[in-house]
Amino acid sequence: MLSPRSGGQDRRGAVPRKTGPHGVAPVQVAFLGTGNLAQRVVEACLRDSILRPDSFVVTARRPQRIRELADLGWRVEDNLTAVAEASTIVVGVQPAEIAPLLAEVRPRLGPEKLLVTLTGGATPSALAPYLPPGTRLVCASMHGYTRARGLIALCASQAAGAEDLARVRLLVGPIANEFMDVTEAQLDAVAVFYGCLGAQFFLFVEGVLQGARFAGVAPALARDLALAAVASCVDEMRLTEEHPAVLRDSSCTPGGLAVAGIQVLERRGARSAVADAMAEIMARVRALQAKPADP
Ligand SMILES: NC(=O)c1ccc[n+]([C@@H]2O[C@H](COP(=O)([O-])OP(=O)(O)OC[C@H]3O[C@@H](n4cnc5c(N)ncnc54)[C@H](OP(=O)(O)O)[C@@H]3O)[C@@H](O)[C@H]2O)c1
Repeated sequence: MLSPRSGGQDRRGAVPRKTGPHGVAPVQVAFLGTGNLAQRVVEACLRDSILRPDSFVVTARRPQRIRELADLGWRVEDNLTAVAEASTIVVGVQPAEIAPLLAEVRPRLGPEKLLVTLTGGATPSALAPYLPPGTRLVCASMHGYTRARGLIALCASQAAGAEDLARVRLLVGPIANEFMDVTEAQLDAVAVFYGCLGAQFFLFVEGVLQGARFAGVAPALARDLALAAVASCVDEMRLTEEHPAVLRDSSCTPGGLAVAGIQVLERRGARSAVADAMAEIMARVRALQAKPADP
């Protein structure tokens, strides 16, 4: 079972604000590979006063991206300088870019640094060959939607402790509304639900809206009603903890409207099609994760 943890209370106050000899906070966090996601994290932390302009440094690769970051008033450094100055290193590169990046900064990593990855698919054992032994590592997995706050799954290496997890919750808290601590074995399920379930959900809602249009319902009304209905179904599942089959049954009057719709879906094999899709995705994720690391 995955174990949900609320991130609400311990998001703040977990990282003490240290000040340097002149009352200036030294750089504490280095963001290596500051693209869309890392920028979003930094902006949210600045908004929530979790970071101060002088308490982080960012890196990028292309001159244009470096200029864009500097134009935000952020200090941009090369990777090695950034790592040397920070106690927490947040990696925001794409999956194909993480191995060369870690190989570059490995000489400056050590047990005194906390390494956090935002990169999709990163796992402690896949990254271990690139890291000094005993690296405190937390892999954070989140969904790919740019505006919605969501659940963030955290998977810690053996060397990482409760304080490290608290620090990560603090840093990514502004873009999360819930945290879940997961084991490495549970990360494949996280990848399936985060990477793929959203697309299936959108396909379902797309069908709902298309059907509503065929039936002459105004698109804006159909969209509002669909979102409200989905939200109340999610609430119902959370509140009752009932199996969806029980909830479906309880919302179907024999011979009624809901039954008519369910009959069509069952005739077309909708439920087993979704189950097959999940099984296919899970098999592919496991095959990808089984590939040996190539340091
Ligand atoms: N975007 C999201 O909302 C989101 C949500 C969930 C998960 N994720 C995951 O987060 C990861 C990053 O996604 P993203 O959308 O933020 O990607 P992105 O915009 O491409 O950002 C990656 C950044 O890394 C930089 N970079 C690559 N190699 C580097 C190196 N050696 N040194 C310094 N900088 C380097 C790139 O710099 P240049 O631009 O200069 O090349 C780029 O700015 C992916 O694994 C994705 O699956 C993203």
